[in-house]
Amino acid sequence: MADLLGQLEALAAAARTACAAAGDEKALEELRVRFLGKKGELSAVLRGMGALSAEERPRVGEVANRVRDEVEALLGARKAALGEAALEAELAGQPIDVTLAGRRPLPRGHRHPLTRAAEEIAGIFARLGYEVASGPEIELDWYNFEALNIPADHPARDMQDTFYVDPSTLREGRAKGGVLLRTHTSPVQIRAMQRIGEPPIRIICPGRVYRSDYDQTHSPMFHQVEGLCVDTKITFADLKGTLAAFARAYFGPGTKTRFRPSYFPFVEPGAEVDVSCSICGGSGRKDGRRCGTCKETGWLEVLGAGMVHPKVLRNGGIDPTRHTGFAFGMGVERLAMLKYGIDDLRLFFDNDLRFLEQF
Ligand code: PHE
Repeated sequence: MADLLGQLEALAAAARTACAAAGDEKALEELRVRFLGKKGELSAVLRGMGALSAEERPRVGEVANRVRDEVEALLGARKAALGEAALEAELAGQPIDVTLAGRRPLPRGHRHPLTRAAEEIAGIFARLGYEVASGPEIELDWYNFEALNIPADHPARDMQDTFYVDPSTLREGRAKGGVLLRTHTSPVQIRAMQRIGEPPIRIICPGRVYRSDYDQTHSPMFHQVEGLCVDTKITFADLKGTLAAFARAYFGPGTKTRFRPSYFPFVEPGAEVDVSCSICGGSGRKDGRRCGTCKETGWLEVLGAGMVHPKVLRNGGIDPTRHTGFAFGMGVERLAMLKYGIDDLRLFFDNDLRFLEQF
């Protein structure tokens, strides 16, 4: 028995030296066959166990198992060490330069069609002398409604399905009165008058607005562009001339405009403005068929407008006996849909590249 135990110890010692010296995976595999293989050294030693007594056998078996485990562990550890060394060598040999420019240029994107439309609209008004103003999307009830001559009990509030915000979720002291997601960009009129103070005031405000609506032509978030012009002796003729110039610049030189009386509490008089249909040229017929865009009327409703109500001027800190002004508001989605012939507003928000890449 002592003989066999000695052979096992010798085998383990030989395996330790050989594993430490193995230079690659192939050498390790050869060692595995040499020590642990069917015709390997361990099997050879175990074959000698037949000559042992019944109580000697388990003791030698135990040592043989320990030696097999050790040789397996030695092989595994050496394999891992070799792998790591190979990786280190590779990294040291050809360092990666993370500052190198990419070989294949990434395809360049472009602005979203709504951004383009809003910028185009603002650009037209910039050339007419308007500056861009902005205001918060989470707005006080006072700016969104009250100051615009829409008191709490006014039925005109029903025109705009509003998302109210729980004021207790806002930082303390921020909210006096109701808080909501602005339903239009008109509150920026008041903010601009308060900020600028003395007319002339000419601002344009592109921005997001929110209403509790969702269908083919309405989404709970959409975009408007508000305009406000306040000065001395501003008349409805200035409003008409400005919006006619805008319509020609945006829809094309031949575009006609039409003003229909309408009601918005913050203007008096108020109007809805139509432009001649950009798809059928105002004829109501396209390629011998009825024009679906204007429903054969030849006209498209594009915006609301009017002379700023004296109460609204006063709420903005402007004296209505000295100054007058006009305001207008338009939907960016609608203007983009009419210009590009898009029939479902929700396409703007799906982020489907097949749609977006057409612009
Ligand atoms: N704020 C109005 C709306 O969202 C549009 C508008 C703006 C009308 C300015 C008149 C003057 O419906």
